[in-house]
Amino acid sequence: MADREGNQDAKEYHIDKPQQNEVFGLRGCNSLDWGIKNRLSNIFDPKTGRTVMLAVDHGYFMGPTTGLERIDINIVPLLPYADTLMCTRGILRSVIPPTFNKGVVLRASGGPSILKELSDENIAMDIEDAIRLNSAAVAVQVFIGGEFETRSVHNFTRLVDAGLRYGVPVLAVTAVGKDMARDAKYMRLATRICAELGATYVKTYYVEKEFETVTASCPVPIVMAGGKKLPELDALTMAYNAIQQGACGVDMGRNIFQSDAPEAMLQAVRKVVHEDMKPKQALELFETLKNQKK
Ligand code: R5P
Repeated sequence: MADREGNQDAKEYHIDKPQQNEVFGLRGCNSLDWGIKNRLSNIFDPKTGRTVMLAVDHGYFMGPTTGLERIDINIVPLLPYADTLMCTRGILRSVIPPTFNKGVVLRASGGPSILKELSDENIAMDIEDAIRLNSAAVAVQVFIGGEFETRSVHNFTRLVDAGLRYGVPVLAVTAVGKDMARDAKYMRLATRICAELGATYVKTYYVEKEFETVTASCPVPIVMAGGKKLPELDALTMAYNAIQQGACGVDMGRNIFQSDAPEAMLQAVRKVVHEDMKPKQALELFETLKNQKK
């Protein structure tokens, strides 16, 4: 039982010192509630304000994608090198060890497979399940300009409302249709719409020209999506350029798990993201780690 007398001598009030209130430095996130900031701190490393997300959610519309046939064998060994894992709740429950204690971003939209119109999505998970699974955020595809644009935006805004209700960040994933121009003009439009409608952070593709205008005009953090498999130097250069031009991290899948040395590639990407390592140096690191593994 607490000692009722124990408080009598309390005197270290530091009257002369103002209370310290730390500003939450992540772009555009200082006004969010404590729970959302706490979850974001499990995605973005508080030391660098950046993240390396490992994206393995492709199966939600592509089935067993190359490199993801056996997540227990191919992906679980990579987890120590990622800041955050992006996956579906099915993979999380069936394969990911519950001892994994970094951020998990759960895919929360879905519907059509690669055989159908991809923008025809709905919300595919209750926010309560995201909370039950202790997820750090939920992710939803937003098809600006797509056939089912309005529905996908509505899916997203409903998740934003649910996320705000329970303190769960929402990652808006800008999905570029195959007939759309993948340029800065489109990315500015898509990312800004997502931010205006309440995205906590936004995932988008890198574009060669004017990517810095995409990050500048989006008031919340942007993470770069990896896209199709590239030679390692090209992927590292793309990640480097995105970070130098204002991205707060990457969310890469195929360029990691389809590399012939995924662990080495993920470690090289970490250096680029968190330590501003130049692409050629990161490639050397990749080669060294790859040869060590052999
Ligand atoms: C695709 O829609 C998924 O959301 C992936 O997480 C995303 O495309 C990132 O993976 P990748 O780097 O392979 O493009």
